[in-house]
Amino acid sequence: MKTILLNIEKALGKITREQVYEQKVNAEAANAKLHKGTGEGNDFLGWLNLPSSIAEAELADIEATAAKLRAKCDVIVAIGIGGSYLGTKAVVEALNNSFEWLQTKRKNPVLVYAGHNIGEDYLYELSELLEGKQFGLINISKSGTTTEPALAFRILKKQLEDTIGKAEAKERIVAITDAKKGALRALADQEGYKTFIIPDNVGGRFSVLTPVGLLPIAIAGINIRELVEGAVFMEKTTADSVPFEKNIAAIYAAMRNELYKNGKKIEILANFHPKLHYIAEWWKQLYGESEGKNNKGIFPASVDLTTDLHSMGQWIQEGERTIFETVISVENADKTVLVPSDEANLDGLNFLAGKRVDEVNKMAELGTQLAHVDGGVPNIKITLPQVSPYYIGQLFYFFEKACGISGYMLGVNPFNQPGVEAYKKNMFALLNKPGYEKESAAIQSRL
Ligand code: PA5
Repeated sequence: MKTILLNIEKALGKITREQVYEQKVNAEAANAKLHKGTGEGNDFLGWLNLPSSIAEAELADIEATAAKLRAKCDVIVAIGIGGSYLGTKAVVEALNNSFEWLQTKRKNPVLVYAGHNIGEDYLYELSELLEGKQFGLINISKSGTTTEPALAFRILKKQLEDTIGKAEAKERIVAITDAKKGALRALADQEGYKTFIIPDNVGGRFSVLTPVGLLPIAIAGINIRELVEGAVFMEKTTADSVPFEKNIAAIYAAMRNELYKNGKKIEILANFHPKLHYIAEWWKQLYGESEGKNNKGIFPASVDLTTDLHSMGQWIQEGERTIFETVISVENADKTVLVPSDEANLDGLNFLAGKRVDEVNKMAELGTQLAHVDGGVPNIKITLPQVSPYYIGQLFYFFEKACGISGYMLGVNPFNQPGVEAYKKNMFALLNKPGYEKESAAIQSRL
C-alpha cells in the first residue's frame, strides 16, 4: 500500500527549508505534548489512538446495525451538525457515485442530511421527500443539546411514528451520543433506541472514526474497515517517536505556522476533484474551530478547481497576498473517459482527442500551481494515490494529527470551542428560552 505524500517545495521561497526545519524542536515538542497529555485540552485526546484501538466487537456491531437499516430503508436521514455530520458527508460524497440519488438500480440507501441548519424550507422539502418512502433516522449529537439536530429530530421522528407506528419507528431509529449524559441519551434510553457511544474524550470535529462517522458511512455501503486501516497507518507514521524529517503531520504543521508568522493569514484548501468538496468542509471545521481563538489562527478557506478558477481564481492570482494554498492532488482518477475526435472540430479540441479527461485536469492542476506560485501564493501539495476509503482514512488522521500539533505550536488549546456558544446564548435569549430571562431583557434593549 502507498501513503499520502506531502510536498512543500513550492511553498518555499520567502520561507526557506532551513526556517521550516528550525521548527523541528517546537513541532516535536507539540507532538510529544499530545502523546504525553501534558498540553491544554488534554481531556480531549481520545482521537489520538482511536484508529488502533477500535474494538472488533464495535466494528461488527456497526456493520450489523448498518445492514439492518439498509434492509429496511430506502432513505436514511443522518441528523447532526458540525463534527456530527461533516466527516460522513465528506466520505460519502468522495466515494459514492456523484449521481447516486438518480440511479434507478441503487445498491445503497440514499443518505440525506438534516439538523445542520434551521431552514424551514429545507425541512419542509425533506419531509415532503420522505413521504411514501421507507426511511430511518440516525440522530447524532455528542452533547445531545444542540438545537439544530434536536429540532430536526423532533419533526422527523413524529413523521416516522405517524407513518409506521411507534413500535416499528423504534426499529429504524439509532442514537449516537454520550454514554451517560445529555438530552439525547435520556431520550434514547426512554424510547429504547439502539445506541452507539461517542467517547467522552473525543470532541465532535475529531469524531469521524467513532460511530458518528462509521455507522452512516457503513450504511452508505462504504468499507469502514479500510477507512480505519488507513487511519491506523497514519497513526503509526505520525507518532511522537517518528522524527520531524519523516513526520508529514509535523512538517505540515511547521510549514503553515511559518507561513502564518510571515503574513499568510488564510489557507485555501483546493481540490481538482469535485467529489472532494466536503473533505474541505470537514477540514474547515477541524482547523477553524481548533485554531481560531485568542484573536489568532489561520482562516481556513476552500475552493473546488477548476470550477472556482472561473470565480475565485482572479482573487487568488492577484488579490491581497495574505494567502497560501494547500492542494489535495489525486494521482489516479478511478474511471476512464477519453476525449472523442470530432470531424468538424469547431471547438478546436481535436488536439486532445484520445486523451483521458484526467490528463487535461492534471495539466490544469500543474498550470494552476505554477501560476499561483508566480503570483506569490505558496503552494503545499498533498498527494492522494487514489480516492479510496484507505487513503481517506490516512488523510483524516493526517489532518487531525497536524491540527493538534499546529494548534499547540500556535499557542492555543486546539480542543475547545468557547466561541461557538456566543450565538446560542443570543438565540435562546431572543426566543425567550426559560432560564434566559436576564439575557432576554438585555438583548431586547439592544434591538
Ligand atoms: O467540534 C465540535 O465539538 C462542535 O462543533 C460540534 O461538532 C457541533 O457543535 C455538534 O455538536 P453535538 O454533536 O454535540 O451536537
